[in-house]
Amino acid sequence: MENDPLLQTRQSDHPLAVLILAAGLGTRMKSARAKVLHQLGGLPLINYVCRTAQSLQPQKILVVVGHQADEVESAVQLAIGTAEFVTQTEQRGTGDAVMAARAHLANSDALVLVLSGDVPLIRAETLDTFITQHRQSGVACSILSVRLENPTGYGRIVRDDSELFVRIVEQKDASDDERKLKEINSGIYCFAARQLFAALERVNPANKQGEYYLTDVPEILQRDGDKVVVYLHGDSREVSGINTRAELAEFENLLRRKTIRKLMLEAGVTFIDPSHAYISALARLGRDCVIYPGVSIEGATTLGEGCEIRSGTRITNSRVGNGVLIKDHCVIVDSEIESDCSVGPFAHLRMNAFMAESSVVGNFVEMKKSRLGRGSKSMHLTYLGDATIGERTNIGAGTVTCNYDGKDKHPTIVEDDVRIGSDTMLVAPVTVGRGAVTAAGSVVTQDVPPDTLVAGVPAVVKKRLRERKDEKQG
Ligand code: UD1
Ligand code: MG
Repeated sequence: MENDPLLQTRQSDHPLAVLILAAGLGTRMKSARAKVLHQLGGLPLINYVCRTAQSLQPQKILVVVGHQADEVESAVQLAIGTAEFVTQTEQRGTGDAVMAARAHLANSDALVLVLSGDVPLIRAETLDTFITQHRQSGVACSILSVRLENPTGYGRIVRDDSELFVRIVEQKDASDDERKLKEINSGIYCFAARQLFAALERVNPANKQGEYYLTDVPEILQRDGDKVVVYLHGDSREVSGINTRAELAEFENLLRRKTIRKLMLEAGVTFIDPSHAYISALARLGRDCVIYPGVSIEGATTLGEGCEIRSGTRITNSRVGNGVLIKDHCVIVDSEIESDCSVGPFAHLRMNAFMAESSVVGNFVEMKKSRLGRGSKSMHLTYLGDATIGERTNIGAGTVTCNYDGKDKHPTIVEDDVRIGSDTMLVAPVTVGRGAVTAAGSVVTQDVPPDTLVAGVPAVVKKRLRERKDEKQG
């Protein structure tokens, strides 16, 4: 029957539905958090398989959710915008998980590609080939397998003397001889929808784990005269699942090394010690950047060309221009730094901090929701919160924007060409006019007129510093 050319043509017309299993808790992670929400390269595990599934352009993507369903659904939506969700209320095994999608698929003539949420590195090209082979063979079920040096924990593929598929046996149910088999089930299958659900009806939980195993389906199909084919894939890493934190760490390391190698070879980035840098796969780094040991670049951060990032610095979801020097031990989150700036050591930029071109932030300076204008400097021991600082302005050591009155946050504006003296307290809301100067230790509670010197507690105008041409004319 499977060689019937008519069936083969019909098979190739069958719409593709991808079914992603993601309802399990992942007991071996020993975690309160569902396994597919654990992070790999800064993204939840489920993100990877969803994006790969989407790139196959299937007719639909169904995700089986259960443990922390709301969070898993949000993670899926963040990864691919939309998918259909089915709920598996009780986690009774992979077969039961597929059964949860029955109403969506059983009566369709879809080709169902089953993927696991915990197999993140599977590539679209591999799946494409697998699907094509399945379509061409016209069989009811194809299984993707791989050989592992250490197959412990996986379901083993049992073949007969002619190398033909016999069954899949789970680690816990396997005999000593079967445990020696190195060919494992990747948990990736293609099924004809109708046959899949008909066979699933007959799966029972008579096994060591008391679960409904999806892995029993191929054997049932074959017993009924349908053909099952196993495709042995060459790259074991690609189809390995993550079941423990040790495996998660191995994958993290693998992904990290891959990302850094690509940045060195393709983007022209120097790593002083590639084994001690942590760069998100989503980050973009420009040519001739130099990354020191112990740097973490997280999320969708971009660095322009020729930046130097010194040891112990973390940059998350931020944009950095060209030629920026970020000295040791800075934390930069959700912020933007334009070209030719210098930051740190020990600076903290967060919540949309913005440094315009050629500005400088130095030792122990924190910026929150604040903007530092072009060429301005804040070199030492300063807090800038909800502040807008103009151009060519100097913020003296120990300056604090007192932005919080215990109830609300208030803005501080410091205009161009201002000199804020050391230890000035700017009690917001307040504006310091352009060209003004505050003396050391001033507590500024009222707006400072342009081009004046203020001093004292509270600060008062001591003298007019200059007259401006444009003012005289006006
Ligand atoms: C499964 C296979 C095993 C294969 C391995 C490959 C079965 C019985 N075993 O084992 O042959 O070698 O994958 O990685 O299928 N899930 C649910 N609901 C459940 C149980 C699991 O949605 O009730 C989901 C999990 O969230 C996970 C996936 O199914 O994403 C696989 O489950 P897991 O428990 O990791 O199966 P393995 O023991 O790894
Ligand atoms: Mg698994």
